[in-house]
Amino acid sequence: MNKTPLAPQKVRLPRVVWFTGLSGAGKSTLANALEKVLAANGMHTCVLDGDKLRHGLNRDLGYSHAERVENIRRVGEVAKLMIDAGLIVLVALISPFREDRRKVRELFGPGEFIEVHVSTPLEVCERRDPKGLYRKARAGEMPDFTGISSPYELPEAPQLELDTAHLPVHECVARILTLLQARDREQPTAGKPPPTYNPGWFVAGRTDK
Ligand SMILES: Nc1ncnc2c1ncn2[C@@H]1O[C@H](COP(=O)(O)OP(=O)(O)OP(=O)(O)O)[C@@H](O)[C@H]1O
Ligand SMILES: [Mg+2]
Repeated sequence: MNKTPLAPQKVRLPRVVWFTGLSGAGKSTLANALEKVLAANGMHTCVLDGDKLRHGLNRDLGYSHAERVENIRRVGEVAKLMIDAGLIVLVALISPFREDRRKVRELFGPGEFIEVHVSTPLEVCERRDPKGLYRKARAGEMPDFTGISSPYELPEAPQLELDTAHLPVHECVARILTLLQARDREQPTAGKPPPTYNPGWFVAGRTDK
């Protein structure tokens, strides 16, 4: 697939922002918040949320090692298709294994893949427990639960590390926007100035819209 003619019409520079981290770290929250700001700035985006994909595309997959590997591979391939269509793709997926993230990164061109480690500590994620999964995992009802009964391999060189125990959502979004702008400046498209993202209402702390 040739991405050259389509991409500039949609966004200046297609990217995948890949949020990795423990359950409850804030990946979906940040992906959705970022999407709102990008959309408000006229960018064409798509959120690929691991949870939601497990109800559709990946509903045949469980949580064994092999199935997790396949889960991540499929999401990477879908993100790749979307990048080729010119979108900014925001992926929220625990993606616990380093090797799988490396393989996914290799699907993309230089600068296209931005790895964001949502590094909220386990204790905080467990305290939040937004889906009650940690409680179940501690009770032994969730085999292979990342952080409890299955490992999370820390990213070695993420483009960004965001600990949401200390950073509010709007600050995390602002940091990602700064990174996207820096990338756009490094790789400007011919004849067009890089876009300036205006966090607008978000910086005012209105995280609920
Ligand atoms: N600064 C913050 N950034 C992100 N989330 C935060 C922050 N402060 C508190 N939270 C809360 O933490 C929880 C994070 O849940 P979220 O569903 O985004 O996690 P997740 O990483 O997508 O988990 P999962 O892998 O299970 O889908 C939410 O309830 C959110 O409101
Ligand atoms: Mg999520």
